Amino acid sequence: MAYVQAYQTTNDQDHNSIVAIGSELGLLLTGPTLDRNRVAYALNMLKASMLLHFSDEEELMKSHNYPNLFHHKRSHDYIISVLAEFISAFAVGRESTTADLWPHLQKTLDTHMQRYDADLAGYLGHTP
Ligand SMILES: [Fe+2]
Ligand SMILES: [Fe+2]
Repeated sequence: MAYVQAYQTTNDQDHNSIVAIGSELGLLLTGPTLDRNRVAYALNMLKASMLLHFSDEEELMKSHNYPNLFHHKRSHDYIISVLAEFISAFAVGRESTTADLWPHLQKTLDTHMQRYDADLAGYLGHTP
């Protein structure tokens, strides 16, 4: 039971930081003027915070022999690949492509939490 509480707390905190960075990025991308340096910084921060969170979560799944690790990790990899695509688009000046990044990513993250993170929490809740 302690595992699930620790996981849920960390998961909520990490997701809140990811959402905070993403929301800031969303504002930067849709504001009246585009500050490319700040956008590039926010994109890097978003990617770093996601990679760190996903990696921690995957280590936790491994250490608890979580049976859905493969599918859960595949969803993490998908989210990172979407972000990486947007980063590449921004790097070559296709800002119009990146403008809808955050709403899209936020929706994908919400679905991930409801489907995969909730399942993991349920599994950890049954771990002695
Ligand atoms: Fe998570
Ligand atoms: Fe996850």
